[in-house]
Amino acid sequence: MKNFISVNDVDSINALVEQALKYKADPFADKARGAGKRIGLLFLNPSLRTRLSTQVAAANLGMEAIVFNVDKEGWALEFAEGAIMNGTTVEHVKDAAPVLGQYFDILCIRTFPQLKSKEEDYAETVINQFVKYAGVPIVSLESATLHPLQSLTDVITIKETYSGTVKPKVVLTWAPHVKALPQCVANSFAQWVGTWGEADFVVTHPEGYELDEIFTESATIITNQDEALKNADYVYVKNWSCYHDYGKIISNDTDWMLTNAKLALTNNAKVMHCLPVRRNVELSDEVLDSSNSLVTKQAGNRVWAAQAVLSEILKSM
Ligand code: CP
Repeated sequence: MKNFISVNDVDSINALVEQALKYKADPFADKARGAGKRIGLLFLNPSLRTRLSTQVAAANLGMEAIVFNVDKEGWALEFAEGAIMNGTTVEHVKDAAPVLGQYFDILCIRTFPQLKSKEEDYAETVINQFVKYAGVPIVSLESATLHPLQSLTDVITIKETYSGTVKPKVVLTWAPHVKALPQCVANSFAQWVGTWGEADFVVTHPEGYELDEIFTESATIITNQDEALKNADYVYVKNWSCYHDYGKIISNDTDWMLTNAKLALTNNAKVMHCLPVRRNVELSDEVLDSSNSLVTKQAGNRVWAAQAVLSEILKSM
């Protein structure tokens, strides 16, 4: 594996999941693999789980991790080709990325979309510029449109907890929120579950919240949430803003919050969310605090997902 930007960088999802679960059972199995190697974690946006789980994963592989909060401590970066930099940006990524490539063996980057221009966000300019100019492997810690470490974790968590003999029914449901959020987690989850091919996959959302079809082509789309939830084995709850009416909140129907009454429609489904979650907006306390909730296990698995990915990159260096 050279870079980890999307599921397209993965040869076998099942092999990567298996490796992650091996690390969960024996975290220091490859503690010498990253010895002498340094990983840079660049944050242009906030994080709790991604930042700390990737640091723990790097340490388990013997790597030194250095975190840089670019948004707070770095120079304001310019990403536009040919920019006349007489405004607020101070340093072009063309200059910064190769320097960072001199300091680190692997660079990891978190960047959120602006949610103003679909074309700009979906061009993935920030992460692509780092891939182009850094000269070292790049790992996405969430980009403008995708969150692949989260999605790998999600597949690990389903695989780890499912004991049925037929494909599980996995439902990704839109949930209300107070802010306009990116489509990243939903896009990425749909892309990974579709590529994995081991789930009966349904996406449910109010009309107008359709995701880019490129991610949901393997899914059944249902705009009636109650209908979609019937017999679900897993319910993945997530808000996203509109893709077509880009970045907008066009409705915020509180009936879409997952409650025990909604859960009663399912096959006693396990409930997933990437966190952070707005309690009693996206998901009710009663669901989050119940034994159906996988959210803590899911967040714990972020370490093993990151460790499996970093290990694959180290093997190919
Ligand atoms: N799920 C997730 O990416 O969490 P953080 O934003 O805290 O990293």
